[in-house]
Amino acid sequence: MKIILLGAPGAGKGTQAKMLQEKMGIPQLSTGDMLRAAVKNKTEIGLKAKAVMDSGNLVSDDIVNAIVKDRMQEPDCKNGFILDGYPRTLDQADALSEMLGDEKLDAVIEITVDDEAVVERIAGRYTCGSCGEGYHDTFKKPAKADVCDKCGSSEFKRRPDDNAKTVKERLFVYYKETAPLLGYYHAFRQLKSIDGMGDIDVVKAKIAEILAN
Ligand code: AP5
Ligand code: MG
Repeated sequence: MKIILLGAPGAGKGTQAKMLQEKMGIPQLSTGDMLRAAVKNKTEIGLKAKAVMDSGNLVSDDIVNAIVKDRMQEPDCKNGFILDGYPRTLDQADALSEMLGDEKLDAVIEITVDDEAVVERIAGRYTCGSCGEGYHDTFKKPAKADVCDKCGSSEFKRRPDDNAKTVKERLFVYYKETAPLLGYYHAFRQLKSIDGMGDIDVVKAKIAEILAN
């Protein structure tokens, strides 16, 4: 299956994509994660992307389209993938359509969340420094305090762009650059929207229902 998860920063795309990856055996392709890995490894792309990401703006379409195109050619994508955070502009949506050629998307799912909830979700987010499992100070704590449920590590980290100032910019950029994609996929009769304000498991069940139909 080829699935796109759309939604504002903090809407829960990564959380849901990780669970879908486990359930369906197809990879989560998160451009945010790929770019953060490039920044960490100080690659040419990472050096270009760092300041843009820290400010909450979008990395250039050329760079992002190229990394997605390369990633989709990896063998683990042969049965499909879950796109998380891509496409994010109309140009990226056109580029994706070109990459897919005759292959169709199975679902484009928008997770809708109030702006206030976005800020709360992002402010409390952290991840396991070892395996990347995502957590939240209030909404998703590890079963045993300070120990990752998945890998047992006690090292956690927070993203540098998860601060009040950058979140506002990311939301602004979302409405200006990414929200037009809702109309784009609606025009192709592919868009399904779900209320993302419920608990993680409630949102998960709504996505499962869409994918089952
Ligand atoms: P990216 O990493 O994609 O960030 P984002 O879109 O801002 O989205 P987030 O990762 O912040 O949110 P999410 O929806 O994944 O939420 P999560 O599941 O973690 O991009 C970062 C930057 O990279 C961009 O700003 C840009 O610079 C660049 N970039 C990336 N892709 C690009 C592209 N295509 N083009 C150009 N530039 C690009 O959940 C958030 C928190 O809430 C977690 O703590 C989680 O536990 C919690 N939570 C999740 N669901 C629920 C729920 N239902 N109830 C309560 N809490 C919940
Ligand atoms: Mg994410």
